[in-house]
Amino acid sequence: MTIIEVIELRKILDSRGNATVEADIYTSDGFGRSAAPSGASTGMFEAKVLPVDEAINNALENVIPALIGMDSADQEGFDEQLRDIDGTANFSGIGANISVALSLANAKAAASSMDMPLFRYLGGAFAKEMPLPLGNVIGGGAHAANATEIQEFLVVPGGASDTEEAVFANAAVHRHVRELLKKHGKSCGKGDEGAWAPQIDDALAFELIAEATGLVADEMNVEVDMGLDVAASQMWDGTNYKYRSKVRSTEDQIAYIAELVDKYNLVYVEDPLFEDDFDAFAELNNQIGDRCLVCGDDLFVTQVERIQQGIEKDAANCVLIKPNQVGTLTDTFEAVRLAHTHGMDTVMSHRSGETTDTTIAHLATAFSCVFLKCGVVGGERIAKLNELIRIEEQL
Ligand code: PGA
Ligand code: ZN
Repeated sequence: MTIIEVIELRKILDSRGNATVEADIYTSDGFGRSAAPSGASTGMFEAKVLPVDEAINNALENVIPALIGMDSADQEGFDEQLRDIDGTANFSGIGANISVALSLANAKAAASSMDMPLFRYLGGAFAKEMPLPLGNVIGGGAHAANATEIQEFLVVPGGASDTEEAVFANAAVHRHVRELLKKHGKSCGKGDEGAWAPQIDDALAFELIAEATGLVADEMNVEVDMGLDVAASQMWDGTNYKYRSKVRSTEDQIAYIAELVDKYNLVYVEDPLFEDDFDAFAELNNQIGDRCLVCGDDLFVTQVERIQQGIEKDAANCVLIKPNQVGTLTDTFEAVRLAHTHGMDTVMSHRSGETTDTTIAHLATAFSCVFLKCGVVGGERIAKLNELIRIEEQL
């Protein structure tokens, strides 16, 4: 039976040591648990998060009673109820941290009642393609002070034959980068997502990763490609893109990114431009979209209205998918469906603040995303990568 009998909410730790919301949902014979992640370089159009204690107290009083007795198998009905109770466009009523934890926990409770893994329940019999792991090995920006200016230098093992090989290839690049940094006399710690956060410039970061992927190609016989999350809104001052010792106009920024794509054979560039500049995205997409994924994260914030604008302007060929940017699983699915209908690829993504929740590994598989972006090392990241290995085994 898939009828919801009990819902519990609690405050738990996330990977930055901050508080976040975890939801448990019980049916008579099923159970689902999920926790909300949180961003540091959040987009200005994202759904809103409320302080955890306040959000939980409010939900216990005003949200949970209206969900008890609902059918967990009716995901759209459940999510519509959350939207109705919230009453705002951006979940500022009950908090997107509450809604996303409940919405994902509900899907997991329904899947559990039906004795199915989540990826199978959501993806059906034809869910067969595994997403490739995309993870950052060097990072700075909003995730680590005094490190690289580009937020994330990413790798994705396009040449891997299966998930296990893919996950280990990324980890090998990460390990080699540390050794190469040592050779350059650069010791360093890690940023929020487990990427190395050395005090080096972006040019050296590119070189080190190129060298590390070359070593992995020799050792493991796996080609590993490079990508970027520029998180350019963090550099945008209203007129220009501000780098430490350089200022770039929008045209300069487009030319710079296009140059990087060709110089380093980048296969993926996320948020290369300001989050509301659809026209600049369109210009860049026109220049490099035939050979590189141009992905909108802060640009689209997983919301169909913004993806629709992007489609009309041909602003990107890829959409980053973060369930907590929009607040429910139904909205997340609608974003994926709209993107795929128009020939865009999708990438399921973690946030910089995470828990050991593995739900996004299932969503990436169920929704046929090309990549699962979730870091390379660290407990809260490997939880998802190891789950991906298990999912492939079940397929
Ligand atoms: P965030 O950053 O989770 O800190 O917002 C990740 C990203 O920009 O992709
Ligand atoms: Zn991003």
